[in-house]
Amino acid sequence: MTIKTIPTRPIEGQKPGTSGLRKKTRDFMVRGYLENFVQAILDAADLTGKTLVLGGDGRFFNAEAAQTILKMAAANGVARVIVGQGGILSTPAASAVIRARQAAGGIVLSASHNPGGPEGDFGVKYNTANGGPAPEAVTGAIYQASLHIAEIRKLEAPDADLSRLGAQALGPMTVEVIDPTADWVALMERLFDFDAIRALFAGGFTMRFDAMHAVTGPYAKAIFEDRLGAPPGTVINAEPQPDFGGHHPDPNPAHCADLMALMMGENAPDFAAAADGDGDRNMILGRGIYVSPSDSLAVIAANAHLAPGYSEGIAGIARSMPTSRAADRMAAGLGIPAFETPTGWKFFGNLLDAGMATICGEESFGTGSNHVREKDGLWAVLMWLNVLAARGESVAGILRAHWAKHGRDYYSRHDYEGIATEAAEALMTALRGRLTGLPGVEAAGLTITAADDFAYQDPVDGSVAELQGIRLMFGEEARAVLRLSGTGTEGATLRVYLERFEPDPGAHALDPQAALSDVIAATREIAGIERHTGRAGPDVIT
Ligand code: G1P
Ligand code: ZN
Repeated sequence: MTIKTIPTRPIEGQKPGTSGLRKKTRDFMVRGYLENFVQAILDAADLTGKTLVLGGDGRFFNAEAAQTILKMAAANGVARVIVGQGGILSTPAASAVIRARQAAGGIVLSASHNPGGPEGDFGVKYNTANGGPAPEAVTGAIYQASLHIAEIRKLEAPDADLSRLGAQALGPMTVEVIDPTADWVALMERLFDFDAIRALFAGGFTMRFDAMHAVTGPYAKAIFEDRLGAPPGTVINAEPQPDFGGHHPDPNPAHCADLMALMMGENAPDFAAAADGDGDRNMILGRGIYVSPSDSLAVIAANAHLAPGYSEGIAGIARSMPTSRAADRMAAGLGIPAFETPTGWKFFGNLLDAGMATICGEESFGTGSNHVREKDGLWAVLMWLNVLAARGESVAGILRAHWAKHGRDYYSRHDYEGIATEAAEALMTALRGRLTGLPGVEAAGLTITAADDFAYQDPVDGSVAELQGIRLMFGEEARAVLRLSGTGTEGATLRVYLERFEPDPGAHALDPQAALSDVIAATREIAGIERHTGRAGPDVIT
């Protein structure tokens, strides 16, 4: 076996503590860049003699990166790599495979919902044996290892044939190519009532699923069309493309404008959904209605017992801090604990592993459960289908009944994208510096009653995460949260999360922007958003 060593170069862009590396595809294509990060993972995680899972969302450079990683794994003593056919695995499927096959970890190639292609983004993420994003201790070790790489070990060999299912040798290592959908589909069949959903479709129920030319196409076809009997054409944009057809594969009203228009129009099907580049995000729509992710989490928590995999009830509900507090009321009603964690799925891992939470969600179109350790877009779609089949009501009917019973949390997120990093940091620093003086401050007819910077102590391992977002409370009902995105690749993105609880939303549904207009105005004024960023309004409203 010949092992080629490549001179190392520093990994520009990796932040300590982030569970992966996400950068412009062009950066990743510079010789040594990908290799450097992968070597750091292999050095820090010690996978000698162990099994690793590998797959990605199929974006541009996925195939090349997979071959590089296989050759590096072979030269670094990994015994076996289980890889999805064609180098493909959705993020939740990768998590399912790691768990089902008791692998030591997995490498996922994706930049999630960020655009792909030579001018787009690429990413590499390391997941541990529980199937979830590496916790801070591991990412810290990877970061440290990246600073001290002596050599990059890579096997000199022809590419593995990733089109052929089954085992093959790559130097001393075994490469096992698997059907990327099989383990995950089998898991879904155990969790949901496929007979009831099949009967729903047989009864004429109509659905549109937009795979956005990304990884969920094959998974969605396997489930909805092949197994559940939805007519061909139910899944649209089903062919994965390396550049996602030039689109931004992020399932939200802004990036799924066509699907939104369909659902608000005269010929809307009963139900629609979309998923992101790597399949962990979801958007849920009913005829004439949009389900905010925070509401989706609360409705799922309230109805999960209708699905066979959750018939015994749920142990707890976890939501990221900026997600609306609708889920907390569900937890209180069910008499189970509610957890509020920092933004990012990795914070749910310990709660799920410890059996303290069963259902988790983020306002950023992320929902999931203890079945894997990632959020799972198609899982959420199946959960909704199971609930619709069991209740025999429409999406709008279920949502309105939920609001009537529990009250409604009007919710919106305003994103200011691509602003200068210094300006964004100055805004946050200025606000942080004034926190203790904020209670009592008035703006737009509202008064701040409390303000803090969210800190979280993990109830399982005691680790502490600080500076996780500034919370401005306007009484018990209204709240604004400000934080900077940790996933962007250009400049800074300021996220402003706005919500108001209305115990009696009445019969008419008020538009969230209208319901939140004073919270929006007060937050803009107090944080000095226009003064700091020069922006009169947000770029994206969800
Ligand atoms: C965003 C979302 C966050 C999610 C993450 C990964 O992170 O806000 O909820 O976990 O993407 O999908 P952010 O860019 O806000 O740091
Ligand atoms: Zn994603």
